[in-house]
Order: sequence, then C-alpha cells, then structure tokens
Amino acid sequence: MNAPLTPQTLAQRDVANHFHPYTNLRAIETDAPLMIVEGDGIEVIDDAGNRYIEGMSGLWCASLGFSEKRLADAAYRQMNVLPYYHSFSGKAHNVVAEVSEKLISLAPTEALRQGRVIFANSGSEANDTAVKLVRYYHNAIGKPQKKKVIARVKGYHGVTLATASLSGIPTMHQHFDLPMPGVLRTSCPHPYQFAQDGESDAQFATRCAAELEALIAAEGADTIGAFIAEPVQGAGGVIVPPPTYFAKIQAILKKHDILLIADEVITGFGRTGNWFGSNTFELEPDMLTSAKMITSAYAPFSALYVSNKIYQACADASASVGVFGHGYTYSGHPLGCAVALETLKIYEERNIIGHVRDVAPAFQAALQKFADHPMVGNVRSVGLIGAVELADDPKTRKPFDPKRGVGAYLVRRAQAHGLILRAMAGDAIAFCPPLIIDEKQIAELAARFELALTETMAWARG
Ligand SMILES: Cc1ncc(COP(=O)(O)O)c(C=O)c1O
Repeated sequence: MNAPLTPQTLAQRDVANHFHPYTNLRAIETDAPLMIVEGDGIEVIDDAGNRYIEGMSGLWCASLGFSEKRLADAAYRQMNVLPYYHSFSGKAHNVVAEVSEKLISLAPTEALRQGRVIFANSGSEANDTAVKLVRYYHNAIGKPQKKKVIARVKGYHGVTLATASLSGIPTMHQHFDLPMPGVLRTSCPHPYQFAQDGESDAQFATRCAAELEALIAAEGADTIGAFIAEPVQGAGGVIVPPPTYFAKIQAILKKHDILLIADEVITGFGRTGNWFGSNTFELEPDMLTSAKMITSAYAPFSALYVSNKIYQACADASASVGVFGHGYTYSGHPLGCAVALETLKIYEERNIIGHVRDVAPAFQAALQKFADHPMVGNVRSVGLIGAVELADDPKTRKPFDPKRGVGAYLVRRAQAHGLILRAMAGDAIAFCPPLIIDEKQIAELAARFELALTETMAWARG
C-alpha cells in the first residue's frame, strides 16, 4: 500500500489542516486555494509572485488597501502600551473612550448622535447584538410580544445562529437547521430580477412596501420588533434599491412602531460616497451596525450604534436587574480601537470620502460600458460598489443555468488576468475595490474584466 502523500506546497499544507469558510470543501481539496502572502496598495501578491488587483477589497473591507503603514504603526504602538483591557463592570480604557466619542460624532443622524456605541469583533456579532437589543428593549418597555425581526430575501447579516437566520441566502440555512423561529422574510428590492414587465422603479418600490405591509398585517404589528436592511445588499448581489424604496418602507415601519436596524457592515465609512449608506439613502435607523472599513479590516472590530431611546430603556432595565448581561471579552479591544481611530483619522486627513466622490463617476462609467454586452443583463452601482449581472438572454432577463457556473468561470478568468472579483448568486459579478483606487487603476480593472468577459463568452456560447 502506498503511504499517503506528504503535503508539499503551502497550498497543500493549508488544505490538509485548515477547514475553510464559505468554500466547497471537497473541491478545494483538489483545486488548491490561491495563497496570498503580501499586500501592496490595491494589490495582493501570491506565493508565486503574481500580483492581483483586489477588486473586492478582500471581503468588502480593506478600504485603505493592503499596505497602509500608519495602521500597522498604530497597532504596534497600542500593543506596546496597552495590549488588552476590557470595559466590563466599571472599567474602560483611553482608546475605547476616544473611539466611542469619534464614532458618535460621525453618526449619520441626530438620533444616533444622541445615543451610544457598543463594540464587538465582527459584523455578525454587531448584528447579533442588535437582535438581542430588540428583545431587551421591548421587554424593558413592557412590550414583550414585539420580538420578531423582518429581514429580506437575499439579505446578508452574518453567520451566528441569529444573523444567519436573518440572512436570506439558502446555503446559509441548508444543513444548519436554520432559520430559527422569529424571523420573517420580505421582498428584495432588486428591480432587474423581481420587477414585473412594464413596472417602473417607483411602482416596484410601492409593491415591495405593500408586501411588507401585508406581512405585518398577517403577523400582527404587536409581534414585530424590528426590520433589518443593508442600504445596499452586498452578498445578495450588490442590489441598489430604487430611489423611493426606503422612504416607502420607513413610513410603514414608523406607522407600526417597528425599529429599523441599518446593517452598514459594508456601506459604513465611505463606500457609497458618504460616511454611511444611511446618509446616501436617507435612513433614520434606531440601530446601525458597522464593521469592516471601520479599521480598513486591519483589525477585527465592529460597532453597533444605538439610539438614545433604546439606550435609555436598556439602562433602566439593567439597573433593575443589576447588570446589562452582554459583552464580549474583546468588546472594545484596544487593538481594534487604536486601528479604528487611526483609520478614521486617515479618512478625514486624506478626504477619502471626497476621493470616492471624485473617482466614482469613472468607476460607474467603466462598469456601465458593459451594459450592452450580449452576455450582460444588468449593471448597477453607487459610490465605489457595483455589479455586472450576467444573463443567458439579456433581452428576457433569463439567467444562465446556475449549474453551469458561468460567473465562477468568469471570476477564474479574471484571476488569471490579475484581477480578484467575486461571483454572487445569479451570476452577479461584484466590484468593491479599495476606496484609495485611482482612475488609472479603475481603467486597468475594467480592461482585465473585459478580457475575462470575452473569454467567458467564448466558453459559454462555444
Ligand atoms: C452586510 C453584512 N452584514 C454582516 C456581515 C457579517 O460580517 P462578519 O463577516 O464580519 O461577521 C457581512 C459580511 O460580509 C455583511 O456583508
């Protein structure tokens, strides 16, 4: 009998030991992962020295690219002075105080500027905390029935039991016995996929709102605590809602006294050309979650903004039982706080949001150029986030058979041309480059994408 092969390459050693997240676990055993070993500006470099434009900022997060020395220095300084402290039971530390104040000053609405921030380490944890606060708050104000949370088809809110349940993506539920009870699902504001023939954007938005209202009526408003929404749905396929959508949704939520949780894990800190997607889409959330670009992803860190109304109710309830019984060992970890503070300083000093506004037209035009391509059904974007959605027949909006993996093929071709992108369900190819990208790099990104698209068409139609 042959002895089992000893793993030789870095990739082989990786798959021999590492249980990969969000991966076809069988496929990667033979396909081998792309091994990234270094970052340089908007590019990453693999173990063979090949360079790639990171068209997704990693996972929608590395806003300042992959070699921002000031963030490394801020982390190093903090680790030398105070590598760890917590904020439980009457303690805090200087950097958590500073970053809290800074974040509150940047909040998109007066209601949140009057409130507080509570910290965690990831977007999932921030959203999970928000769900817990929906319960805590409603118990505190004497409405213990008001607990269900409405989330949307194709929403993405994280991977904890609660946040995966809120997410409206089937693979996040299959084999996990999810969603858990207490989650309601409403429609996704993606006109390209869901608008009826002849329906205008405004009519479609009205129909989405009517469907929400019908759901609330069927369940009973007194059983529904909150509605959670990403301003732009990222993992669902970069879905930019029609202009009137959020105004119509928010009017219904207000009418039925249902809290709005804005999941700004992707859109927070400049992605849409404003500090928050809530600025861009005029949201008035009761809670807002942020992560990722809060530290340019250089340290795991997330913040949940809580309005004063919710904070005050929680404070009263905690006083009545003696403690607010929630918090992570690493809530407000000094490393995350220090890196977040430096990231926010860089955003302001370099006017990163102004830069996003300056280059967004070039980015959006570069994607829009593909709108008439015979294999493209829809192109959409806002700020520096966008998608090119492939179609078997663009005229009838007929998608490719998912089994063919056309989007995945395109992404592999892009990678061969030095461009990292991601294919979402429905063969929507997502673009979310670092916010520091310039116009020349945008042109290069589009040129590499065009090569991949041409090759994919030859393969798919061949
Ligand atoms: C909108 C949104 N919410 C929540 C999350 C979960 O964040 P994390 O992966 O940091 O737990 C993500 C991750 O991509 C996201 O896109």
